[in-house]
Amino acid sequence: MKRLMVAMFALISLTIVPAEGADKHLGVASCASSLCHGSARPLAAQAVLQNEYTTWSQFDPHAGAYKVLLGAKSKEIARRMGLPNAHEAPACLACHAENAPVAQRGPKYQVTDGIGCETCHGGSERWLATHYASPKVTHADNLAAGLTALEDPKVRANQCAGCHVGGGDRFANHKMMAAGHPRLVFELDTYTELWRTSGGREHYKRDADYVQRKSVTTAMVNWIDGLASSAHRQNGLTAANFVRTSALPDFAVYACYSCHRDLKVTPWQGEGRRDALATRAGELRLQDGHVRTLLVLSRAARASLEPRLSAAIRTLQDASSAGAGGVPAAAAELDRVIDQVASELRARSWTQADLGRVLDELSSAARGGAFPDQAAGEQAAMGMVLVLAELDQDRKRRADIDQLFAALKDGDAFDAARFARVIGRLQRP
Ligand code: HEC
Ligand code: HEC
Ligand code: HEC
Ligand code: HEC
Repeated sequence: MKRLMVAMFALISLTIVPAEGADKHLGVASCASSLCHGSARPLAAQAVLQNEYTTWSQFDPHAGAYKVLLGAKSKEIARRMGLPNAHEAPACLACHAENAPVAQRGPKYQVTDGIGCETCHGGSERWLATHYASPKVTHADNLAAGLTALEDPKVRANQCAGCHVGGGDRFANHKMMAAGHPRLVFELDTYTELWRTSGGREHYKRDADYVQRKSVTTAMVNWIDGLASSAHRQNGLTAANFVRTSALPDFAVYACYSCHRDLKVTPWQGEGRRDALATRAGELRLQDGHVRTLLVLSRAARASLEPRLSAAIRTLQDASSAGAGGVPAAAAELDRVIDQVASELRARSWTQADLGRVLDELSSAARGGAFPDQAAGEQAAMGMVLVLAELDQDRKRRADIDQLFAALKDGDAFDAARFARVIGRLQRP
């Protein structure tokens, strides 16, 4: 019976990992010709900029992700972990390179290229030769030939969060953290913008032509899909680790500051609260920054499923404290509820009044101790800034926003009461 559960779970967590597809990855060099995507400058007459390779190789952090593994920081991480080196360690290459299965590597594929075009856009075996022949070949044709629909925030979120949260064989585990790997942070809308414009260049333009060829979603939809996808990834890691380990699961499935804190008793932490977000005395809290923020958002929207989401979060947390047995079912139920809540929230029109309520709800949740550490706090803060930008208030509130991020800067010195005070200043304008 127990073995069956394990086998079933191995299957379920496999299906959460993106369908990477069976197509061959032909390699960055296949995209880089100056007539294709390797133009030195954007080509004004074309629908796409055509300088994507140039932008990627010079300004995109992903192009350097493999090189990072050769650097001093990685050498130190590898030494502390007892690995011979980082650049050949599958555990590192899983996220720092285009880690296509060996059978799917075309002749120009090179692991040293780092996170190349096809890591995100999908193996190009079936679309490389024809994808540019618009209007004869449409975007839909390309998708049918294996191009990934990255304009869809759900698809994009799943792709980015596959590395920026983890999933399947990609896991920034506690050993890596203890050896010096940075803690992972992700919010889809913020990270897409940060990345799209890295180095002051644009990977692609969201102009009228783009909007016409593809759909563009609002920041709210990106936020919702990003939270849902990140929470799914996190659940997948939690479930997999509770199943695989006979004793304690890997510590990285827990909120870091469940353990890494001093011995002072801090009475504000959810004391007297009875809801799902209340941190209980002595509890090893799971990494739940994304799903907490999704819950607060659904509260602001008065979503009908808010009570079910709240109950599902609590059930998973309780199951994790009780031992491995109940975790897979609780994680699966939370996954189902997250999808339903995300559909409900995505379908809303989000009026100015709704957005004002989101700001109020985030700051009231912070006062109640719902963001007890840096990881949860930064999710609330990135959401707050996104909503202020939607209300065209972000520039005007610059000083308060700077204060908010100052309160988040040092995880070891994070003070939830101070965080609640500064987030409170950003309530409904
Ligand atoms: C789950 C995916 C994942 C795994 C596994 C992973 N990394 Fe990372 N790594 C990242 C991400 C994402 C970042 C960027 C973090 C950020 O800034 O948000 C990063 C950042 C880094 C940095 C900091 C880079 C800089 O510019 O300062 C180093 C060094 C690093 N990783 C080394 C390693 C090594 C060595 C391993 C293997 C032991 C490893 N990573 C495994 C995802 C991963
Ligand atoms: C980190 C993931 C990632 C990497 C790596 C990446 N892209 Fe992109 N790319 C995206 C996303 C996301 C978009 C925007 C969504 C979309 O339109 O598909 C995009 C958009 C584009 C577009 C514009 C599409 C349009 O319709 O206007 C082109 C062209 C493009 N990428 C080519 C490349 C090339 C060439 C490379 C490698 C040199 C590359 N990309 C590497 C994620 C990536
Ligand atoms: C194959 C794994 C992988 C995928 C997929 C991926 N990333 Fe990354 N990303 C990384 C790694 C590793 C780094 C760190 C690279 C470095 O430090 O040089 C990084 C760095 C970044 C950074 C810079 C972070 C910082 O602190 O400077 C941003 C922003 C980013 N990624 C956004 C995205 C977005 C948006 C997507 C999806 C469209 C995405 N990434 C997809 C692995 C990935
Ligand atoms: C279940 C408890 C627990 C959780 C949760 C936990 N850690 Fe740890 N951590 C430890 C223990 C135990 C050690 C080893 C003892 C020591 O070195 O202080 C450690 C060591 C470390 C170290 C090395 C400290 C040093 O002095 O060398 C770092 C860095 C670290 N953890 C980061 C993290 C991060 C980041 C997270 C969240 C992703 C996290 N930890 C989650 C228990 C935990």
